[in-house]
Amino acid sequence: MYRDRIRHPAFINKVRTAEEAASLFKNGMTVGMSGFTRAGDAKALPGALAQRAKREGLALTLITGASLGSGSDGLMADAGLLARRLPFQADATLRRKINDGKVMFIDQHLSETVVQLRSGSLAPVDIAVIEATAITEDGGIVPTMAVGNSASFVQQARTVIIELNLSAPRALEGLHDIYLATGLPIPLIRPEQRIGSSAIAVDPERVAAIVITDSPDSPSNVLPPDEETAAIAGHIIAFLSGEVSAGRMGRALRPIQAGIGTIANAVLQGLIGSPFNGLTMYSEVLQDSAIALLDSGQLTFASASSITLSPAMHEHFISNLQDYRSRILLRPQEISNHPEIVRRLGLIAINTALEFDLYGNVNSTHVGGTHMMNGIGGSGDFARNSHLSVFVSKSTAKQGAISSVVPMVTHVDHTEHDVDILVTEWGLADLRGLAPRERAPLIIERCAHPDYRAPLRAYFEQAVQRGGHTPHLLEQAFSWHSRYLSTQTMRAP
Ligand code: COA
Repeated sequence: MYRDRIRHPAFINKVRTAEEAASLFKNGMTVGMSGFTRAGDAKALPGALAQRAKREGLALTLITGASLGSGSDGLMADAGLLARRLPFQADATLRRKINDGKVMFIDQHLSETVVQLRSGSLAPVDIAVIEATAITEDGGIVPTMAVGNSASFVQQARTVIIELNLSAPRALEGLHDIYLATGLPIPLIRPEQRIGSSAIAVDPERVAAIVITDSPDSPSNVLPPDEETAAIAGHIIAFLSGEVSAGRMGRALRPIQAGIGTIANAVLQGLIGSPFNGLTMYSEVLQDSAIALLDSGQLTFASASSITLSPAMHEHFISNLQDYRSRILLRPQEISNHPEIVRRLGLIAINTALEFDLYGNVNSTHVGGTHMMNGIGGSGDFARNSHLSVFVSKSTAKQGAISSVVPMVTHVDHTEHDVDILVTEWGLADLRGLAPRERAPLIIERCAHPDYRAPLRAYFEQAVQRGGHTPHLLEQAFSWHSRYLSTQTMRAP
């Protein structure tokens, strides 16, 4: 079954069980694993390593591309395997361990991890564990549904373990564009451009084991669009139509980046049937909506680092892979998220906020300022450098008990300087060219839920009496969050 996927003779005798491969790990090692937003992750080693951790107290630093699927992060966290974890996660069990202080989590811009590895700012990767579709005649590793940081892990690790996944369609070969940054300008000037090779080069001497698996990626867990996310999409489309009418963009807009999660997926879904055509994406993750947009013919090309789909869309994608192969490229996340390219291509970046404040500062990561949700992911890579930085959110959370528009955000991921447009289901605030005192009334009237507008106005008006470029009432700035902690609602009694 697997022999025709291992096309280089030097690899064929390296097949081992996951338990044999797991015996190569030593306490305190740094491990680089493939996997990016539930796609392309190692399926066997996480379980085998968790078993060892339970038996022997093994603890590691684990670096990935982004979040893992199959409950792997939870399994490893529960077993005490994860002493340190970076750069992103989205697992309920691991989240709890992070917030309990049991796992040291480094929440990092996703383009930056390999830069820090290469410069020696992070401990070097001892072992790389990489999921593969095949090993080529010249010994290259063909990734599966994600590239993430895999190429850099392989380049740096002393030991490489390959998980050859027989459930990965052979037709994935050719979908990847592997390019490692060298410090010279990256020669990418169009989203559809190939600049690298289709497999990750590896010296067979460093490959210690090939583990055979056949488990598919975990499906995406985003919810379908609802009335509120459809309204958010509507506001963005109206705004972009205005940009086209004003002559600032053509009907193909600019290459689009869309963040992870339910809201970003729904926003992109809303572009189907919009007046825009010849669209391109230069993004990090392709969710269901990207494939639907390709199907609609409006999206002509999508570049990303991973593909994470619902079960039905996954089935559809795999069945029609031959059609998509010329319209999709998967790149290392250093390249998909590279600030140099994001600025050069002039992206429209659409990411999601947990909350934003009167002046446009955005919190995407910390609930109540203290508790990690997922991580900043690539949102910062894109927000700072894009042509248009859009943040979306529903105006309230937890059945209206939390306002997503607050006097002051309790944690800042994206400063007001990195935010051009804010959107909720109520409307869109275009902050470009506006000073803080001009931004606040616009954000309140366009984006806040009507129930929270009066208290936001009162806060702002009182703050203005005290003066300042960015007026605040410091003793009240977090009172909404404090009230939520004590009464489970931000609403005043
Ligand atoms: N305070 C507390 N909780 C909040 C909140 C707030 N202000 N706003 C939202 N939430 C909760 C929701 O209630 C929901 O909780 P639940 O899972 O218990 O139902 C959860 O956060 C997710 O919110 P949801 O509305 O379903 O949005 P989403 O699936 O689109 O995810 C983020 C939103 C912000 C969590 C997600 O986009 C993210 O992790 N972003 C950061 C990384 C990033 O942007 N990467 C993209 C770069 S490509």
